[in-house]
Amino acid sequence: MTQGNLNSPTLSARWLAVLCLLVGLAVSLPLTTALAQQQGAVPGNTLGTVNDAEVWRQIREGAMGTVSIPDTKAALLVQSEGDNWRAWREGPIAIVGAVAFWTMFFVVVVFYLVRGKVRIQHGRSGRMVLRFTFIERFSHWLTAISFLVLAATGVNLLYGKHLLMPIIGQSAFATLTEWGKLVHHYVAFAFMAGLVLIFVLWVRHNLWDRYDWGWIKKGGGLLFPTEHPPAEKFNFGQKTVFWAVMIGGVVLSFTGLNLMFPFALFDVQQMQWVQAIHGTVSQILCLMMVAHIYIGTVGMEESFHAMSTGYVDENWAKEHHRAWYERLLRRRAKAPRPPAAVRPAPAE
Ligand code: HEM
Repeated sequence: MTQGNLNSPTLSARWLAVLCLLVGLAVSLPLTTALAQQQGAVPGNTLGTVNDAEVWRQIREGAMGTVSIPDTKAALLVQSEGDNWRAWREGPIAIVGAVAFWTMFFVVVVFYLVRGKVRIQHGRSGRMVLRFTFIERFSHWLTAISFLVLAATGVNLLYGKHLLMPIIGQSAFATLTEWGKLVHHYVAFAFMAGLVLIFVLWVRHNLWDRYDWGWIKKGGGLLFPTEHPPAEKFNFGQKTVFWAVMIGGVVLSFTGLNLMFPFALFDVQQMQWVQAIHGTVSQILCLMMVAHIYIGTVGMEESFHAMSTGYVDENWAKEHHRAWYERLLRRRAKAPRPPAAVRPAPAE
């Protein structure tokens, strides 16, 4: 045997090596493709055998991985629409909301400076009539106070990171926001209860009636302090507030419950809409409340009295809600003895 024969493999050994290689390839190719599909993507996708750009494009388009936990949504590698949602939340919803709120605030201040407080034109009569019963006032304040708490804690979720955190620091902000979120969740149920109560108590007073068109034509008599157009228990402006609170309140409640119990009805993309609607509607209601709170406090004489004590001066009732006042008079005339709805004015 020569040296050369010792070092070089025989012909059959070479064929054996080639055969092993082919068998190895035949077994490993399907195995690597299956593995790539498992780690990668949508069925039929060849993730892992394409270039990086293609892999990332597919991930951005919603490629799914696999998970062994029950929540299959976790298999989504990247939810790209989340970027759009964040841009909307931090952009139009937050910025337009803040600009609109302060514009409304400014308009109300200008209105006050130009128009001044709406006074009782004929002065006080000294006689009081019952405008809102205890249950009406309780329901109003339940809705109002819970709404204000929800607004404050909600505004913190949207703007707190930019406005409050730089002032009070990260740790205090984290604690405050955690508690704020809990308060937001629980107080939401008080708001919903308030909505139901004021709906039941006031819906019949908030249907369209024959005085509404006249009230609209005169702009409610708010701009030009001549005579106030007649109105029933609620005028058209108040009816607008009522229905805005009702419709807005139902939308806020529905979207809020879905945010509280996510994915019960909607998937990730729909949840983003739910959140955007919740944020937008709450801002619209806050805007309306600026005007409402103004007219219910500094904007109109006697108005706050109605919702605090329940009673208003007869002259106020006559001027602002003549049809309602006349109905009270008719009821009073029919009553065998003076009804509890009439009582002397409290000492000033
Ligand atoms: C500090 C805050 C508030 C004050 C001072 C206030 C004051 C008043 C007053 C005085 C009235 C009776 C007006 C009248 O006698 O004709 C009233 C009615 C009403 N309030 Fe409020 N309110 C406040 C907040 C809210 C909030 C947050 C809501 C709902 C989210 C609300 C919903 C209503 C509704 C639906 C009515 C009946 C319709 C109307 O008069 O506009 N209020 N409020």
